[in-house]
Amino acid sequence: MNAPATIAPKKQHLIDPEICIRCNTCEETCPVDAVTHDDNNYVVDPEKCNFCLDCISPCPTGSIDNWRIVARAYSLKEQFSWGELPFQEQIEIQTSVESGGDLEASDDDAARLIAEAHLGAGGKSVAPASAGKPKINLFNRGRPAAATVSGNFRLTDPDADNDVRHVILDFGGAAFPVLEGQSIGIIAPGADKDGKPHKIRLYSVASPREGEKSGANNLSLTVKREGDGVCSNYICDLKKGDQVQVTGPFGATFLMPDDPSANILMICTGTGSAPFRGFTERRRRNMKDAPGRMMLYFGARRPEELPYFGPLQKVPDGLLRKHFAYSRVPGEPKTYVQDRMRATPDEVAAFLKNAKTHVYLCGLKGMETGVDEAFADICRNAGLDWAALRAVMRAQGRYHVETY
Ligand code: A2P
Repeated sequence: MNAPATIAPKKQHLIDPEICIRCNTCEETCPVDAVTHDDNNYVVDPEKCNFCLDCISPCPTGSIDNWRIVARAYSLKEQFSWGELPFQEQIEIQTSVESGGDLEASDDDAARLIAEAHLGAGGKSVAPASAGKPKINLFNRGRPAAATVSGNFRLTDPDADNDVRHVILDFGGAAFPVLEGQSIGIIAPGADKDGKPHKIRLYSVASPREGEKSGANNLSLTVKREGDGVCSNYICDLKKGDQVQVTGPFGATFLMPDDPSANILMICTGTGSAPFRGFTERRRRNMKDAPGRMMLYFGARRPEELPYFGPLQKVPDGLLRKHFAYSRVPGEPKTYVQDRMRATPDEVAAFLKNAKTHVYLCGLKGMETGVDEAFADICRNAGLDWAALRAVMRAQGRYHVETY
């Protein structure tokens, strides 16, 4: 008798239109041009997607990480028309055998296939094992949270090149729970030149989970005015009492370990310092006796350009070991974070050798390669294999990158 010919159900990669903020990151990232969009939705072409998963970790909202097991793939036309994702349909796996018998797949088969698909998708970016369980996507464009501005302070010197702001948003009676490392979306009012609503922009939360001020239902952001950027100018110009439409929270992997014995090595440029302020405040306020160590490499043009420069000086070294790298101080060599790391190899190696260490990178995308090379060199001289170590740390949720 001939072996049965099985027509297997297919795994299909989909984007959740309710959560997607249309930032185009997935389309830019996809190496095989499988992601495309129309005026309504970003979608994945089932004919082109090869499940390489390159698009998964850069997606700021997690909307990209959706999978269905389908007997027939949803077409681009169908996906463009969606306002929400379809439910997982009950799959009938047609198994044709010579005798002509048809079998139905058990629910277990479908569940296993879905689980496998998801495991692959999430495999690149993993939350720390001890991180809190984040709430995500509580508010969206159709149903935003209303926040009131309770403060807007300039963080950089008046004569600095960059205008970076510390903006505090109060949620009044509405619950908007965030964990350190999560982001929120801001909707600038009005429409673009084509009459379409402005894109939602994401900003990392700079305060710890209990708020900018303990007991107040608020959070803070670190926002840099970007040339003619609509949303950043809108935020930087906000006045006390203004109302802001907020979406999110977003982000389920770039989270702080809750384990007090976890060591945290943070590397950032400019406003990439926002989540690390949240991490530091969490330890300072709620985990005073934490045995885990924290170390920060922070890059800016000059001290006057470095967000939170003043307050950072007051954070004791016992809580946070600080290394600053300045690139534009007159008369001094241009120094980047990776240069400071190379100048302090023993400190970096001591962190990396410890199995309780988590590494976080946040800020300019350009620093990724330089920092990676610095890690590789430091490891080589310390008898470590960075590529292997990074793979282990990533799989264990101990290596986290958020760059833009
Ligand atoms: P640079 O003086 O070369 O611009 P910004 O002020 O634009 O937000 O940048 C923050 C800091 O990040 C600046 O000191 C900037 O230096 C630095 N920077 C720029 N490119 C890189 C890179 N590839 N790696 C590390 N740091 C970088």
